[in-house]
Amino acid sequence: MSSRVRRERPELKTPEQIAIMRRSGALLSEVHDMLARELRPGITTGRLDALAEEMIRDRGATPNFLGYQGYPATLCISVNEEVVHGIPGDRELLDGDIVSIDGGCILQGWHSDAARTHIVGTPRGADDERLVEVTREAMWTGIAALASAGRVGEVGAAIEDLVDAANDAAPAGAAELTHLEGFGGHGIGRAMHQAPDVMNYRTRDRGPKVVPGLCVCIEPMLIQGPGDWRMLEDDWTVVATRGGRAAHWEHSIAVTADGLLVLTAADGGAAELSARGVTAARDPIGAAGASA
Ligand code: MF3
Ligand code: CO
Repeated sequence: MSSRVRRERPELKTPEQIAIMRRSGALLSEVHDMLARELRPGITTGRLDALAEEMIRDRGATPNFLGYQGYPATLCISVNEEVVHGIPGDRELLDGDIVSIDGGCILQGWHSDAARTHIVGTPRGADDERLVEVTREAMWTGIAALASAGRVGEVGAAIEDLVDAANDAAPAGAAELTHLEGFGGHGIGRAMHQAPDVMNYRTRDRGPKVVPGLCVCIEPMLIQGPGDWRMLEDDWTVVATRGGRAAHWEHSIAVTADGLLVLTAADGGAAELSARGVTAARDPIGAAGASA
């Protein structure tokens, strides 16, 4: 989403509501797994969109992007220099393309929202692999920070520090990774976008308190080179204007009384959180498998 400052108090969800959001998120995780299997050179972005819509509807849910402020598809698929909100269509994916797939669904009234970035076939170079890995790591670092945060603003601070450290550690001549300016994460629940804003960098506003029932999307968007962008004529696609390619990772997360639950990860976040010294909350659906 774009940055609209959401200052209302976040709506807190009950454990029963979080359990339904978990089902919505687990379905979305399976949709992403299916898309990862289908991704190959020659497939069109429109075909991926159709497969996602079919699976979401088959499972008794509905797409939430479709019709949102007139958005025409189930997924946003953003390729290479496209950062977010690319509209699926006839474009055929090529070997080496960087493909950010963002999707969401509504199950029994409850929204989920998650994005993953893939490289099709053989990466074009180390800079592209680094971009995708650092963006994914920025997401998990932000999620892990939420576990011990007093205020939501600590998520953005942790993401900023991770990106700074990754840039410092990058080999000489590597592209500097920067944030897409003016975009960030958000609360989620009975609507896709709720309070609070969840920025990907430090802000003066420390944000609301982190308390059980808070449900947010954490979604770093990084670009190789400066974070300047423009909107394409379709009024949706956000494109980096100073040359670099981009990546976007996103999970929906619930804060519960016994820890974090990563709603859109197959294992509720257990593996990635424990790798960062954080214990995930008990998963109400007991799903097994690895997180994305
Ligand atoms: N996941 C996206 C976000 O939070 C939602 C895409 S906007 C839509 O920004 F219109 F495409 F749905
Ligand atoms: Co989002």
